[in-house]
Amino acid sequence: MDKLEAKKQIEQLSEELNRYNYEYHVLDQPTVSDYEYDQKMKQLKDLEEQFPEFITADSPSVRVGGQPLDAFEKVQHTIPMLSLGNAFNETDLKEFDRRVREGASVEKVSYVCELKIDGLAISLRYRDGLMERGATRGDGRTGENITQNLKTIKSIPLKINETETIEVRGEAFMPKRSFLSLNEKREENGEELFANPRNAAAGSLRQLDPKIAASRNLDIFIYSVGEWEAGDIASHSERLAYLKTLGFKTNPETKVCQSIEEVIEYVKYWTEHRPELAYEIDGIVIKVDQIELQEMLGYTAKSPRWAIAYKFPAEEAVTKLIDIELSVGRTGVITPTAILEPVKVAGTTVQRASLHNEDLIREKDIRIGDKVVIKKAGDIIPEVVRVIPEERSGDLVEYRMPTECPTCGSELVRLEEEVALRCINPNCPAQLKEGLIHFVSRNAMNIDGLGEKVIRQLYDAGLVHTIADLYKLEKESLLKLERMGEKSVTNLLAGMEKSKENSLERLLFGLGVRYVGSKAAQTLSEHFGNIDALMSATMEELIEIPDIGEKVADSIVRYFEEPQVRALIAELKTLGLNMEYKGLRKEDVAEGSPFSGKTVVLTGKLEQFSRSDAKKQIEALGGKVTGSVSKSTDILIAGEDAGSKYDKAQQLGITIWDEQQLVDALSK
Ligand code: IVH
Repeated sequence: MDKLEAKKQIEQLSEELNRYNYEYHVLDQPTVSDYEYDQKMKQLKDLEEQFPEFITADSPSVRVGGQPLDAFEKVQHTIPMLSLGNAFNETDLKEFDRRVREGASVEKVSYVCELKIDGLAISLRYRDGLMERGATRGDGRTGENITQNLKTIKSIPLKINETETIEVRGEAFMPKRSFLSLNEKREENGEELFANPRNAAAGSLRQLDPKIAASRNLDIFIYSVGEWEAGDIASHSERLAYLKTLGFKTNPETKVCQSIEEVIEYVKYWTEHRPELAYEIDGIVIKVDQIELQEMLGYTAKSPRWAIAYKFPAEEAVTKLIDIELSVGRTGVITPTAILEPVKVAGTTVQRASLHNEDLIREKDIRIGDKVVIKKAGDIIPEVVRVIPEERSGDLVEYRMPTECPTCGSELVRLEEEVALRCINPNCPAQLKEGLIHFVSRNAMNIDGLGEKVIRQLYDAGLVHTIADLYKLEKESLLKLERMGEKSVTNLLAGMEKSKENSLERLLFGLGVRYVGSKAAQTLSEHFGNIDALMSATMEELIEIPDIGEKVADSIVRYFEEPQVRALIAELKTLGLNMEYKGLRKEDVAEGSPFSGKTVVLTGKLEQFSRSDAKKQIEALGGKVTGSVSKSTDILIAGEDAGSKYDKAQQLGITIWDEQQLVDALSK
């Protein structure tokens, strides 16, 4: 076959296969048989192999999964992926409605009701009409780039008819039937079973080999937009309709309601009809329809004020409490855990539930051997609701907490005004282990390849006792450990090395100073800039910092007074750990920066910057970059071919700059 003919055929096959995919997986109206589809796919793959130069950017052959990756890259969400506040009953919903109407000063509001799909939140970004990136939500700001895996989901279009950059968000999930048959197969193969469809979907998308995701029959519903340069559609329901015309799969059960009463009807309907759906849902999401009202209502630190998630009531089950196990936390707190006879609740088998502390056990009079009612709080965390005293045999004794640490045997104390019992031995192995686990955890040093299991293994093998020991680990001794191959050791060591570069706030949080959470660690790092300045800070200096109270300040001063701590910091320095704050400090932002405190919108094509680059630079000078023009916008920066945002800014009388003015302002 000559080249020209090959190119033509590849293009034609790609287009046909993409269309079949759409008809089958989005419209649910297949027009060809599976056989025909497979044949064409094979033809395409053969041709692509012979003429790789003609593989199209939207080639459907990626659906079967290409080469495995070594690791997932991290991606930053330019607009954070937030979570939602919860409602559990009618009163909460009415209260939400009241807050919305008061907040937006309107009598009537239309709401969009959507099913809350129980999967995982995903972001998909398209540039010049092509899907260029797919990512997980992660912590909302930083997710993982799982493009190759997401491209295997056949209801995700690889190409759309929209040239403006658009990021859409939705929920990837595994349909109930696919989940059941996957687990059946796994059982036959003696593999571990997935607890529920959500875990199965998340597990599939977290595989480095895209062939696995391709084999898992995942699906997606798109429910919102993130970054969107031409985002001028006035309501959420119209946005959804537009996304549908672009070829995205949106949920067909979505409904616009004109009042909260109508919303409550919708909630009632789906509470009853939920089992009929082909996929699992864990609630209903209610969103204010008008974008303008959404913008007026805005956001709290965590979630939008214009939306709420109604959570279905937790399912309850009865089981027997076999034992109470005690664990020692990082700060020495003893936590009792109920060991239960396995029982199925809301899709998973529950065998343990935290009992939190002695007071709770006493209050609920929980005894070993009791029949107990359990439920999953927020449908996730198992909890003992109450005991069933009628079923109690006479000989069950009241539960008493021990007086000695279950790990190191030292006497436990109950500090004044605390409910918790504590082991105060600073060398208690359980505490040291938990401290190390905290140090490597995601919000702290975030060390790839080093999780709880490995820490326990390292500690138990006597290889690490302190944080500093972690940085002294050597390849040879690691290789001797069970389940530690060449690859995992290399990863682990690379992860350690990389973590040395972390900015100060991660280290500070990782050290586990009492009362210093990640937010306080951030504030302190930003304020002092490096660890030496923080270490020599006085109580007075500390409490002057906004958000740092006396309790935190006192704890910091005492912590850094400890000779052991000072020695540890010195050792970590010698080992090459960064002790400086790498983010931007307020005092570094030039006073009188043209962007300080300003809300800026970017539109049109910029010649000298990428969009994200411009955004970063503006933010570094204290500006806030948002996606759409509203009354609160201060400056619109219009590149070439600026469209409707330009018109809107003009109408609203907002300052408009061209690219040169942006360049000038940034170089001031
Ligand atoms: S909207 C800022 N709509 O529920 C609003 N979320 O806490 C972002 N979810 O992380 C979410 N179905 O994973 C929205 N129709 C839906 C949803 C939905 C499921 C998940 C999503 C999010 C969580 C909300």
